[in-house]
Amino acid sequence: MHQRMGEICGPGSRTAREPLLYQLSARENPSWRFNGDNAYYPPQAIWGFSGGSGPAVTPGPTIHARYGQPIMCRIRNELPAFSTGFGSPEICTHLHNMHTPSESDGFTGDFYSASKKGPTLFAPGAYNDHFWPNLYAGIDEFGGIGDPREALGSLFYHDHTEGVTAPNVLKGLAGRYNIFDDLDSGNEQTGLRLPSGPYDYPLTFGDRRFDVNGQLTFDQLNPEGVLGDRYLVNGKIAPVLRVARRKYRFRLLNSGPTRYYELYLQNKGANGIFTFTQISADGNLLPNPLTNQTRVRLAPAERADIVIDFARFPLGTELYVVDQIVQSTTRRPDKVQAPGTRLLKLVVDRNPPEPDTSMVPSVLRPLRDLPSAAELAALPVRSFNFERSGGMWAINARFFDVFTPAVQVARGSAEIWELTNLNDGWQHPVHVHFEEGRILSKTVNGAPVPIPPHERGRKDVFNVGERMTIRVLFRFRDFNGKYLMHCHNLTHEDHSMMLRWDIV
Ligand code: C2O
Ligand code: CU
Repeated sequence: MHQRMGEICGPGSRTAREPLLYQLSARENPSWRFNGDNAYYPPQAIWGFSGGSGPAVTPGPTIHARYGQPIMCRIRNELPAFSTGFGSPEICTHLHNMHTPSESDGFTGDFYSASKKGPTLFAPGAYNDHFWPNLYAGIDEFGGIGDPREALGSLFYHDHTEGVTAPNVLKGLAGRYNIFDDLDSGNEQTGLRLPSGPYDYPLTFGDRRFDVNGQLTFDQLNPEGVLGDRYLVNGKIAPVLRVARRKYRFRLLNSGPTRYYELYLQNKGANGIFTFTQISADGNLLPNPLTNQTRVRLAPAERADIVIDFARFPLGTELYVVDQIVQSTTRRPDKVQAPGTRLLKLVVDRNPPEPDTSMVPSVLRPLRDLPSAAELAALPVRSFNFERSGGMWAINARFFDVFTPAVQVARGSAEIWELTNLNDGWQHPVHVHFEEGRILSKTVNGAPVPIPPHERGRKDVFNVGERMTIRVLFRFRDFNGKYLMHCHNLTHEDHSMMLRWDIV
């Protein structure tokens, strides 16, 4: 269901610190099958990425990166000049959650078309080179190598073109990026020894709507969001994954555009729910695993890595990953209700070829201590209101302005950002580029509410619920330049709930 980048491009130079040279091409695949040979969904055009001369796939190739080994990725726009259906053939690719220099961050205004004389003001040509340094954050403080406690893990890349991110992502322009280091080593014999290799598996969830002819559609007109009635897992409707009787790490991603998920592992009769271990949130390993979990909730763009041990199931067992959220409007989830919608079927169909030596140790990646209460009290606080304005979405009563930073922060400083949603009707999954934050408090109607354990580590998406305020600690380190904060309900983002902030 997914391909690895290295298998497609081959590695570039392996000299220390010299970047690996990768190439991704955004292309149309004219005959994507969403649902095998099911005639209701005829082969049809999607957009995706290809790592070589082959056809584009969605999600795009999964890139496996290592700390200390930078990557230079040339991203070509080879999309047709005119789109059939929806989507706008300019691209701009953001690697979500990477600690990236500004010019490589996929800033929404830096989009480009396939023709060098693209229709856009900013078009640098038919490709853009993205430098992904794969360095820990905090290189200022740690003399060049950064702090391994700041390591990332499960990232994703996706289109970020100004005003058309939702249709372009819905059409397929997204992929996964996993980064390893000595601790989260990608090897079951070293470091934490988490399930690795073929047992480390990305699962990208997204919902879509199809017309009476089984063709993918996009509702351009609703500024509140887009809900599908079919669910994709790794670009396919209701796929089947055959697994061995051993532990797997699944990297779950809600790729949007609008829907919330609450995922459970259920048996075939829908009368049994099984536990798993959550090891990361938004791609960051937690300090300790959360064992015996039965559910994981994902707002748009949120990620969670979980470990499921299939050794406890007899051969032939059929299981389902189900979504138990009922969401009737684009505004917010309504309620959680069993048995839910089956998204992915899992069939335990073999014993592993070798004994399972992978582990989930009780200590994963330590967190830095939060500053003391006195230190926190001395930090500047900036407030951001996420609100509706004239049928559009705004932050502090402003619509997105690509040219003017709404906020300037000093490099090397720390601040508390206060994210507030005063409304009663909708929620906003707010994403901050570049730096991750630590949630300090959450209040609803001014009254404190608990911070769930999986939100106590570093995060890059903060789901601001109704009448909620979330206070988040950020440090701004390493690079100067322009970055973004926006709602990751992609329709809200396109309808202007986004701001540019600069590190100076
Ligand atoms: Cu995942 Cu600004 O985005
Ligand atoms: Cu929103």
